[in-house]
Amino acid sequence: MPSSAPSGRGVPPRGPHRTEGPVDFLREHREEVLATLSQKDLLPRLLLQDSGRRLPLPDGSVQLVVTSPPYPYIERWDGLFERALGWPGGTLARDPTRLEAIHRSLTRTWKECERLLQPGGMLCINIGDATRTVGGEFRLFPNHVHVVEACERLGFRSLVPILWKKPTNKPNSFLGSGFAPPNAYVTLDCENILIFRKGPRRRLPPHDLLREASQFSKAERDRWFTQVWEVRGAPQRDGTAAFPEEVPRRLVRMFSLLGDTVLDPFAGSGSTLRVAHRLGRRAIGVESDRARGEQLRAALPDRPPELSKVLDDLIRGYGPGRPA
Ligand SMILES: C[S@@+](CC[C@H](N)C(=O)[O-])C[C@H]1O[C@@H](n2cnc3c(N)ncnc32)[C@H](O)[C@@H]1O
Repeated sequence: MPSSAPSGRGVPPRGPHRTEGPVDFLREHREEVLATLSQKDLLPRLLLQDSGRRLPLPDGSVQLVVTSPPYPYIERWDGLFERALGWPGGTLARDPTRLEAIHRSLTRTWKECERLLQPGGMLCINIGDATRTVGGEFRLFPNHVHVVEACERLGFRSLVPILWKKPTNKPNSFLGSGFAPPNAYVTLDCENILIFRKGPRRRLPPHDLLREASQFSKAERDRWFTQVWEVRGAPQRDGTAAFPEEVPRRLVRMFSLLGDTVLDPFAGSGSTLRVAHRLGRRAIGVESDRARGEQLRAALPDRPPELSKVLDDLIRGYGPGRPA
């Protein structure tokens, strides 16, 4: 069964809405859920290529994209953009006028996501703005504005974004001089998680089995569907600027169903793919850096998720003392 199809037969209505997630539902319908999920192709897949070029995947075959591209005008990614766009090394450190051109190249990937998402599918993009002195002047490079404009132009509908604030041990890191106005700068201490939908809401039959089995609890809803997330950043080891798994974990639970396909077109160290697989989704990643991609391919699970364990984890995740 293609994963975009309604998931199994509907289940009878369950009376008043429950707030504790799918625990009781999974206990009652476990065998049906397992049988429905086992018909889906949940083998993870990694494509080693530029995600701005056509990917070997059918139109409408993805339900959710969760990703984080390299951030323009963040120094660590200068070389990548300079090489991709054929500019001499050092261009971005000198020239603050290249932001639009870089975003035009990233937009090729957002366009491919638009083709691959099914109607009602969701696109979540984690992107930070950049502050930097370029050409002798300190300035802000508002990356999120360019991504919002590009995605709206592609026809995506913007939904309320999340501000991801990383708790820091440096309470008042402050740029500027002393305590006198007006020339100090506000600290850039949030990244954006932009949320878009392809067209109107995704349509599913009433009481769809996998939808019911994918519910979040009231505690999760209260914590996740709020505009500011305080999530500690991940330890950085391999130069990919990995996000902590808590970020894709929330997004995958919020915006996809068990058995859905989740794509990360800038896979990096594979955080989204690992999380999606563990949560019983099909994980597809794209990575253009061959060495990083090979490393990731070796580390990715080479089999579908163990479905019984996926459901057990989901049940355990709701247990007492485990608010996610
Ligand atoms: C910010 S990192 C992603 C980090 C990831 N979220 C994680 O948790 O590890 C961006 C990744 O995208 C890759 N990349 C850059 N341009 C790409 C492109 N056009 N197509 C595919 N991958 C690309 C980079 O090599 C890098 O690994």
